[in-house]
Parts: sequence; structure tokens; C-alpha cells
Amino acid sequence: MTPTSGISVIRAVSQLCDQVSAWRGQNRRIALVPTMGALHEGHLALVRRALEICDRVIVSLFVNPTQFGANEDLDAYPRDEAADQAVLGELGVHLLYAPTLEEMYPDGLVTPIQVPELAEGLCGAFRPVHFAGVATIVTRLFSQSSPHVALFGEKDYQQLQVIRALVRDLHIPVHIEGVATVREEDGLALSSRNAYLSPAERAIAPLLFATLKHVAAGIETGGGVGELIEEGKKALLEGGFSKIDYLEVCDAETLKPVSRIEAPARVLAAAHLGTTRLIDNVAVKVG
Ligand code: PAJ
Repeated sequence: MTPTSGISVIRAVSQLCDQVSAWRGQNRRIALVPTMGALHEGHLALVRRALEICDRVIVSLFVNPTQFGANEDLDAYPRDEAADQAVLGELGVHLLYAPTLEEMYPDGLVTPIQVPELAEGLCGAFRPVHFAGVATIVTRLFSQSSPHVALFGEKDYQQLQVIRALVRDLHIPVHIEGVATVREEDGLALSSRNAYLSPAERAIAPLLFATLKHVAAGIETGGGVGELIEEGKKALLEGGFSKIDYLEVCDAETLKPVSRIEAPARVLAAAHLGTTRLIDNVAVKVG
């Protein structure tokens, strides 16, 4: 382990396994917070929660190429490992696991993990390789670090459900803890990709959350799902969004579209502002 700004940094799987075995031998409760770095307060909410509920916290930092499509932003994705190390060290995180590409994919993408149904709709329809890449890397991170708990943000709600499903289906002994979305004061969900927005786009961006809240509130007060979705799409386009990938109301667990609310539901959207694609979601309260 290399101590850097107060935090130990590990880059090799074998060293990670040794550290985790030692902690398990001491009966420590271990949390894993997987990230792609460029950490912001959204990531840090996961880290703070992990520090509250576990004795040892591992944050992984790996910009996972297999979850980016051919014409997506892999090369432009923001990276600042020194700043990430510093902030994690200050918070008291025990270990930063920042593996190399060769450590994570020594033989390329063999044994991919697919979660077909949940990964097909919503973002999956627009990013066909994305969730297989996420499911594969997260499964590898789980088997490398054997955490008791792993934390994921509701910001990426479909990702959270895909991970819950793979843990259930593969009987991986880890508890998945979802953490509420952290937002700017004007409602915009924090995201590493917000850095791509021009000042004019940044001023429009909070409309996404406002629209989702409007749809959810409309449904909660008895409005029709179809009409509210159409109204929402119109508001986004008139407000300056250039393209809407989807705006849907789905069952909160299966993510199947619903037209009547009989169980917990979620309003989810992905929309473009210029070249930046933003996603967000909110809960619809029932009963
Ligand atoms: P990344 O986008 O870096 O996000 C890491 C974790 O932070 C995810 O669980 C995400 O949902 C959470 N997060 C991001 N913004 C948030 C916000 N505003 N509020 C709360 N949580 C937020 O998601 C990934 O990386 C990758 O797909 C990964 C799971 C690491 C696999 O490569």
C-alpha cells in the first residue's frame, strides 16, 4: 500500500485481497463505494454513509471503458485522481482502490455479466453496451473486495436496480444500500458531466428536475400518466433542451412502464442540452 495524503492507495487485485482478508480476520465490517472518480458531493454522500455504517471503507476509482459506447465521452471523461485522493483522505476513507486497466481486464471482456430485462429499457435503449459494462465491472469489484455493504446513488436509478438484480440472481453476499440524490440548490442533480455545460445550458438544466417533480406531483393528485408525460416533454423542449431520449413513468422495481399507479413508481428521464446528456429521476408516492 502506498500512503498518499493520508489515504492508502492500492492498484493491484492481489494487494486488495490481502487487505480485505486481514480486515475480515479482525471482524471488520467492510463497505465498498464504486466510482469513476472526479468526485463531487454526490459521491461523498455515499462515502459519508459508508463511514457511518461500516468500520472500513474502500472507494474504488476506475473509469470503466466497457460501459462507454463507441461515440460516448470516455476520452473526455473528467479525471483528477490527486484531488480525489485528498478529499477521501480528509474524510477518513481507509483505502482507495484505483486499479489499472490490465488489472481489471487482463484478458479483455471475457465473462461479461448481462441483466437483460432491466437493462433494456430507459437508458439501455440508447446506450446498448452500457449496463453490461456496469454489471461486469461491479461484479468484478464485488468478487475482488468481498464487501459486506456496497453503496450506490439513486441518481443512477436504473443502474441501482440492475445491481440489485445481479446481486440477487448471482447470490452475491453483499447488502446494496441506495443513497438519495444530492442536488444543487436549484435542483440540478450533481453529476461529473455537469462540467460539460456552458453557462447558458447550466441555467436551463434545473428544468429537468422541475419537470420530473411536476409529473410526479400531477400523478399523485390523480392526473393521467400519458398526458403528464406529454406535457413534461413539451416543457423540456420549449425550455431549451435539444432532445429527449425518454421521459417515462415506471414501476420502481421492475422499471416496466406503467399507466396506472398501483405500486411504488418512479419518473425517469434522459435529455440532451447541446452535447451533454443529463439523467434524473424522482419517486412517485402512492397511497
Ligand atoms: P459514477 O458516475 O462515478 O458514480 C459513482 C456513484 O455515485 C454511483 O453509485 C452514482 O449513482 C453515485 N452518484 C453520482 N451522482 C450522484 C448524486 N448527485 N447523488 C447521489 N449519488 C450520486 O456510476 C458510476 O460511477 C459507474 O457506473 C460505476 C458504478 C462506478 C461502475 O463503473
